[in-house]
Amino acid sequence: MNILVLHGPNLNLLGEREPEVYGRETLAGVNAAIRKEARMLGLSVKIFQKNGEGQLIDILHRHRKWADGVVFNPGAYTHYSYALRDAVASIRKPTVEVHLSDIKKRENWRRVSVIEPVCVAQIRGRGIKGYLDALRLLKGL
Ligand code: DQA
Repeated sequence: MNILVLHGPNLNLLGEREPEVYGRETLAGVNAAIRKEARMLGLSVKIFQKNGEGQLIDILHRHRKWADGVVFNPGAYTHYSYALRDAVASIRKPTVEVHLSDIKKRENWRRVSVIEPVCVAQIRGRGIKGYLDALRLLKGL
């Protein structure tokens, strides 16, 4: 089973970016944990981080035939990108939306996800473990 893991804008700065909200682990550390879990579950993963909305859409398009599922943290695009929502809907692959922080317990504008309706699940507030839970969820489908 092939899983595309996508990190959106500003997640390249994990570890130094608002560590009180997002933790002290770097993106490299998060990706190492994802690869380890994937190996244990027998999943193949491809992992990307992009800051641009169009870049994220291009990756979803490019890997749509390869991927059996998607783990996606769209960062702030979560809250307003109808283009990303449509991209997820267009590729018709089970997608799990992941957030390190609990977006439902933060600012009002952050509580809304325009991506959530086209995902099979939203995992939030579990830190890095959320990505690992998302892999397990997709494997179990
Ligand atoms: C985030 C939550 C978003 O609101 C924020 O813009 C991010 C990170 C999270 O993982 O908690 O960039 O997606």
